[in-house]
Amino acid sequence: MKAFFSRSLLLVGLLFSLSGLSADEATVPQYSKDKHLGVGSCSNSTCHGSIQPWKKSNILQNEYITWTKEDNHSRKAYSVLTNKLSKRIARNLGLKDPAHEANICLDCHADNIPVDIRGERFDIADGVGCEACHGGSERWIESHTSSETTHEENLKNGLYPTEDPVARATLCYSCHFGDKNKLVTHRIMGAGHPRLRFELDTFTATQPAHYVIDKDYRKRKPVFSGVQIWAIGQAIGMRSNLDLLLDAKRGRDGIFPELVLFDCHACHKTMDKASWRRRSGTGLPPGIVRLNDANFIMLRHILKAVDAKLAKQLRSQTRALHRSVINGNTALRRAAAAVRTTTEKAIKELANHEFSDGDVIVILKSIIAEGLKGELRDYASAEQTMMAANNVVVVLDNAKAINDAQLNKLNKALDKMFEVTKNDKVYRPGKFTAALKSLKSAIPNL
Ligand code: HEC
Ligand code: HEC
Ligand code: HEC
Ligand code: HEC
Repeated sequence: MKAFFSRSLLLVGLLFSLSGLSADEATVPQYSKDKHLGVGSCSNSTCHGSIQPWKKSNILQNEYITWTKEDNHSRKAYSVLTNKLSKRIARNLGLKDPAHEANICLDCHADNIPVDIRGERFDIADGVGCEACHGGSERWIESHTSSETTHEENLKNGLYPTEDPVARATLCYSCHFGDKNKLVTHRIMGAGHPRLRFELDTFTATQPAHYVIDKDYRKRKPVFSGVQIWAIGQAIGMRSNLDLLLDAKRGRDGIFPELVLFDCHACHKTMDKASWRRRSGTGLPPGIVRLNDANFIMLRHILKAVDAKLAKQLRSQTRALHRSVINGNTALRRAAAAVRTTTEKAIKELANHEFSDGDVIVILKSIIAEGLKGELRDYASAEQTMMAANNVVVVLDNAKAINDAQLNKLNKALDKMFEVTKNDKVYRPGKFTAALKSLKSAIPNL
């Protein structure tokens, strides 16, 4: 009876992903069964390899050129695996294979799908190719060029719904943090891998975009605001952390929990830095290693504008989660599961919420207020605050909600924020607080 129950649940999940109807359930390209035909199948000059964008086309047609020339996902993601740093990481980890042949690295630095679903033109050295994000093209390559084919039909045929923020965030986080099959663990970082940081809206913009959201795009696909993309990214980031925390195997390393879940700088600092004061909002006494809660904090402030009750619940639940670290494993799992349920609720609400320009300012002010209380002084939180502030300014500018003088003032404050958060080695919480103050005074009243 029990076996049947779980199997039927599994089937429901499968049906969702095959129908392409539920973006939430869509399988990220690396784990779907469709054959990946290879970047070489997309790069023809009459397909996506045009030097110039086409005027009379729904899409730019030069996506391949943007990807090769400006996007680090192209061969660079793969080729860094042969550089000096990668050699050192592989040596420190005691890998049998060189980094560019080891699955533990290729799983994120390339489109490392099983060999039997690699098409003739597939080349692992292409790095994070088109199909690593858009899905194996076996079933849609022919039909997707026809104007008769709808976007829904393409999705049914295995195109990944990258336009949907939940699906997109799940995809990006699978490599920019990790998922149940791959992770940059503290061991890998200890071997020399750089620390990862990610924010969906910022990284979507800096990738850079190889598409334009214009009239015909809006006809074909749903469009989400920058704030929504930022908000959902925070929630998925949080969910990724919680899933790891709840995973009895991956979430632990010997007698310790997996240390990437914690604030790196809670441990990695010199002992004479009295300025690294503890954060009272966590409810933790001194000397306790804090979970990295940057996404938690951002999401809580965003939620205030969407569902104040849920935001409040998240506040008490995340505080309980912080406290559970000193109360043992059972307490931790219970607290993490409660936060996860709230996160899922938040994701659904955020996907249906329209943020006004006023909302956006209220959210930023609320984040700044928390920062001025000292709750965002951890480097990871300062970094997220910088990206949040940048998003808000972009949103206001795009909506033409601010004039040039107001934009100038905000940009100056942003430059300062960027300067003090750009490098964790020289990061000083005091300078961050000063930058927050300038930002606060630059926010216009709408
Ligand atoms: C969970 C996914 C993941 C895994 C596993 C992973 N990496 Fe990375 N790696 C990344 C991401 C994402 C970045 C980019 C960081 C950034 O710039 O934000 C990166 C960056 C790097 C860089 C710096 C690249 C540069 O342009 O400076 C090197 C070198 C590297 N990884 C090597 C490795 C090696 C070697 C392994 C295997 C032991 C490995 N990585 C495993 C995701 C991963
Ligand atoms: C790291 C992930 C990633 C990679 C790699 C990638 N894309 Fe995209 N692509 C996106 C995202 C995100 C969007 C924007 C959302 C959307 O419309 O689906 C997008 C949009 C597009 C669009 C849609 C434009 C429109 O108007 O509907 C095309 C076409 C496209 N990509 C082609 C390519 C090609 C060709 C390659 C390889 C040369 C490629 N992409 C590589 C993530 C990626
Ligand atoms: C298959 C794994 C994979 C997926 C999926 C993926 N990335 Fe990446 N991404 C990487 C790796 C690896 C790098 C580092 C490349 C390098 O060496 O510089 C990277 C680099 C980047 C960079 C450049 C960062 C920097 O510091 O220069 C941006 C921006 C980025 N990714 C955005 C995205 C976005 C947005 C998505 C989701 C639409 C996404 N990525 C999905 C693996 C991935
Ligand atoms: C609970 C404390 C703790 C946390 C949290 C923590 N680390 Fe570590 N880290 C250590 C210890 C202990 C070592 C081992 C030092 C040694 O080898 O002697 C270490 C080693 C390292 C090393 C290798 C340094 C060396 O000199 O060999 C790097 C790099 C590193 N950690 C990065 C990180 C990053 C990035 C994070 C956050 C994602 C992080 N650590 C979180 C305690 C921590």
